[in-house]
Amino acid sequence: MPSLTLRHPIRTLDNQLLFPPETLLTEEALDAVIDSRRADSYQTCPLLSYGSVREDCLNFLSLPPYATIFGDKKEIDDLLNIFETVHFSIPILQSLDYFKQHDLYTYTHVLMVFAWSTLLAKDLIPDYEECIRLAATGPTHDIGKICVPLPILKKTTPLTKSERGFGEHHALAGYVLASYYCKDMQHLACKVALDHHERRDGSGYPRGRVLRDPMVEIIAVSDIYDALLKPRPYRSGPYDNRTALEEITEMAKQNKIGWDVLKALVAHNRKSKPHFEEVTISAEKRGTPPSYNVYGIIAEEEKIDPKGKAHPRE
Ligand SMILES: [Fe+2]
Ligand SMILES: [Fe+2]
Repeated sequence: MPSLTLRHPIRTLDNQLLFPPETLLTEEALDAVIDSRRADSYQTCPLLSYGSVREDCLNFLSLPPYATIFGDKKEIDDLLNIFETVHFSIPILQSLDYFKQHDLYTYTHVLMVFAWSTLLAKDLIPDYEECIRLAATGPTHDIGKICVPLPILKKTTPLTKSERGFGEHHALAGYVLASYYCKDMQHLACKVALDHHERRDGSGYPRGRVLRDPMVEIIAVSDIYDALLKPRPYRSGPYDNRTALEEITEMAKQNKIGWDVLKALVAHNRKSKPHFEEVTISAEKRGTPPSYNVYGIIAEEEKIDPKGKAHPRE
């Protein structure tokens, strides 16, 4: 359990303030917030039956490069069968509506991270079905983004240090929101929300902890891969599949992620679909990253402070 000072507020979608900025987030403080809603029972709904999720998933999976990697009908059926068994509480599902309306990237991203991580977990985690259900990796891994102002999420020029900090706030915010809705801060979904930006060498955020949990690592790698393959506002276009895999290979070389997850990802990209342990990773770099990419570049502070905005999401 982290004891960290929250730099920004954490609010639910219906604008209930769970923690104001500068709160020291302790187990006791979080427990008190969870307790305040312990008597409430949330209705749940299968992920695939919610809104247009089923139709949208099938549409995304029919596009490249998903279509090549999930090309096999059985693979898609298996994936949908797992999706069918995953239920979320309505407030968590409503975050999908929010993203679909205001940040389409995050909407498709959370669904596809679910797809990638299910595929990889099948190879790497013995009891993967149960693990996927618990990790609830769909809407929950980035649910904390509802606490990040949309102009920061959509900015096309370099972020300032404080904007970057606000963006990174989504990991802690996600941890609190997932704990609040699951009514259990030990739930795997909370760990996923908190640690999916941590790395094996301790270079990630929010705590700079060594990433050890195999399921969280699978989600972390799925998260990176999916983000590379999608258009992002801060670069000229998406990475092509080869260059994206090379970027992730570089991360494995630096011990930021593990080789087995990379090998599983590469195995699904090969036509022969070998077992991941039989995959040899090519050291050859042939890819071309997008020409414009300001990710990681820090801009001078701007005069407008996001904390001064009338509404945290505007
Ligand atoms: Fe994230
Ligand atoms: Fe993500």
